[in-house]
Amino acid sequence: MLKGRTAVITGGSRGIGAAIAEKLASLGADVAILYAGNTEAAENVCRKCTEQYGVKALAYQCNVADFNAAKETVAKIKGDFGTAHILINNAGITRDGLLAMMREEDFDSVIDTNLKGAFNMIRHCTGLFLRQKAGVIINISSVAGIMGNAGQANYSASKAGLIGLTKSTARELAPKGIRCNAVAPGFIATDMTEDQADSPLLASVPLGRMGTPEEVADGVAYLVCAEYITGEVLRIDGGIAI
Ligand code: NAI
Repeated sequence: MLKGRTAVITGGSRGIGAAIAEKLASLGADVAILYAGNTEAAENVCRKCTEQYGVKALAYQCNVADFNAAKETVAKIKGDFGTAHILINNAGITRDGLLAMMREEDFDSVIDTNLKGAFNMIRHCTGLFLRQKAGVIINISSVAGIMGNAGQANYSASKAGLIGLTKSTARELAPKGIRCNAVAPGFIATDMTEDQADSPLLASVPLGRMGTPEEVADGVAYLVCAEYITGEVLRIDGGIAI
């Protein structure tokens, strides 16, 4: 279904990003994975994509918050794959804390990675998309960006910002054949949420359980292929933000 297309996935070394890389590879896409620090984990995801699905898969260490590093990495991907067709902005961090005590650097680093990182990647991939008059962008937001969450003012602001970025990008680039959508996961079982497995907030999930990275990846794959959907925010949250 995605044979001949190249997908760039930020934060693809583990969790939701790794599941997205594997899902898109299973549909035939070649994958370029960006990761922050764990080379071994990133290489393992690439190996799995290549061995199981026969696609080309390469990993790039890149801090997406750094405008020039993102630019250099997109140039490397162009050199290695020829171009890119799909961009998944999944890299994200949390630095939770109550507002009254939140450190400035914790606000800045979350906005820089989660929101500016997505801008940086869109900014540098759009040239490739415009040249081929086609491209798909999916931003991984969060229900925290829709509902807010006490103790996550920085994170919620970054994820709400991603929704605005998604809608503006969708409007601006639709005439050029480029679609942009967001996915807003709820509680998904990954390293990021391992300390929340017993959270009382889980009781507020109508479907009564955490989601899996694979369930998020299925939604991403749907939006990658849904030719008439742009500017949408797909909640994958067990109903928590109904
Ligand atoms: P995770 O912590 O398991 O993985 C995060 C990934 O992002 C890693 O591959 C890491 O290398 C990468 N990363 C972090 N900072 C980076 C940077 N500056 N440059 C490049 N890569 C960087 O996280 P998880 O749970 O898989 O989350 C993935 C995305 O989904 C995040 O954007 C997160 O905010 C979002 N999300 C997660 C939810 C959950 O319940 N796990 C719920 C809602 C949204």
